[in-house]
This record gives sequence, structure tokens and C-alpha cells, in this order.
Amino acid sequence: MKLGTQAHKELFCRSFLDSYQEYNPETLPWPDLDPVSLERLRAIPFWKEALYTEKKAGIMVSAFAKTIEDPLIREAITLQGQEETRHGRLIQFLINRYEIPISQPENIELPLDIERAFTDFGFEECLDSFFAFGLFEIARLAKYLPQAFFDIFDPIMNEEARHIVFFVNWISYLQIERGRGWSPLRSAHALYHYGSALTGLVKTFAGAGEREEQAFAATGARTFMDDLTAEMFFSLCIQENQKRMQQFDPELLQPRLLPRLSSVALSVVKLLPKKNSLSVQTN
Ligand SMILES: [Fe+2]
Ligand SMILES: [Fe+2]
Repeated sequence: MKLGTQAHKELFCRSFLDSYQEYNPETLPWPDLDPVSLERLRAIPFWKEALYTEKKAGIMVSAFAKTIEDPLIREAITLQGQEETRHGRLIQFLINRYEIPISQPENIELPLDIERAFTDFGFEECLDSFFAFGLFEIARLAKYLPQAFFDIFDPIMNEEARHIVFFVNWISYLQIERGRGWSPLRSAHALYHYGSALTGLVKTFAGAGEREEQAFAATGARTFMDDLTAEMFFSLCIQENQKRMQQFDPELLQPRLLPRLSSVALSVVKLLPKKNSLSVQTN
């Protein structure tokens, strides 16, 4: 199958639409928690950020869908908007049900260039999801919370995997359709963006810097596992990404840049002297 063709568009839109899973966040089998698990759930540092990101995504993606002329692509992006809105509802429900204290998230404002916003968001999602897959597995291995939580969040991880696969196919289709091919500038932008995020993570693990905003994933990881090493972190992210990507039609494009950069980061941390102790301090 040739990229940028009608057949390509049919495949990436249909496979996205056909893999939709129906559920209501409010009626999922949320477990009652003992005091230790409750404390752990409340100690996870990113609930406010997650709530804001998902709510904003729901509004922005839904608004972008309305601007699209192609009916099939519009249908797929409308569905993504509904899924992001549902993620926002799910996080909000979790915050309320377990009384997680968060400060009020900022007001959500829609950017003027909505296609640009959707594109930037797509690259961000590729980055965040890649690390989220690894973090999810780290928390599961550490038995940080009861299994019921992992059963609830596993389909959400898969939804994010569907979003990023849809995104990389959509953007390549769009660029070919517009006669541009893959933009070197766009690739350079993504490379810089991902590269600096990874550099921040390696530095955090090596204790060489405090770049909290770029170390979002590592900061979360620190909460879940006391003796997590950078090597283990990157290995698990790469492994879990491969696992989640196996569900997709091999003819679809998949996000490749971040797994490749992470393999480079993994080789770098393997070279770091052991006495530099990559193990992460617990709070
Ligand atoms: Fe989401
Ligand atoms: Fe998403």
C-alpha cells in the first residue's frame, strides 16, 4: 500500500474507527482503597496536569474535527475528540471519587491556528504516550496500586496508542496530499523536541540537573519504584511501546522517532559509570 493514497486513508481511518471501545468512566469497576493505596494514589504528582491536558485535548480536537472537509477523516478525528473528552471525564471522576487534592486547573483557551494546535498536540502525544506506556508497566510491576486500577487504565493506554498511530498516518497522508512530502523542518522540530526531553530525562536520572518540566515522566517513575534505574526505565518504555504497537496493521505507519532516540539514550546510560549511581532517590 502506498502512503498518501485513498487506500492508505481508508486503512488508517477505518482501523481507528473500528477499534473503538465503548465504556462509561463513571460505571467502571472502581475499587475501594485501603488507606495505604489511597495515600499512594494521591501521591501521584500528575493528576492536575493530566486533567488539564485531557480536557483541553477534548475541546481542541473536537473543534479541529469540525473544520475538516474530508468526511472519513472528520469522522475519525471527531471520535478522537470524544475519546479525549472521555479521558477528561475519567480523570475528573477519579479525582472526585478518591478525593485527590488538586488546585484548580487553568482556564482552557482555544488556539487560533487549530490545525497547528492539533499537529503540535500529536507530537506531544507521541512523546507522552511512549513514556506513559513504560510508567504504567513500572507501576504495575511495583504493585503500586491494586490490579483493578491497571485493568481500568489499560484500555486508555491502548486508546492513546491508537491516537498516535492515527496521527503519524494522518500527517504523512496530509503532507503527501498537499504535495509537500515529509517536511524536513517538521522532522527537525520533532527531533529537537524529543531530543531535549530525553536529554532532560537522562540528566535527571544521573542527578545532574533539575529540569522538572522535561522530566515529567521520570518524576512519575520515581514515585512508583524506589530503585528504578535509567536503564530499566528506557528498556521498559521501549518494550511496552513494542507491545502496544503489535495490535496495529503492519501496513500502517507507527511512531518511530522516539523509540529510536530512546534506544540511543539507553546506549548512553549503559555507558555511564556505575559509581555515578543511576538509581533514583525516593521522596
Ligand atoms: Fe487522552
Ligand atoms: Fe490521545
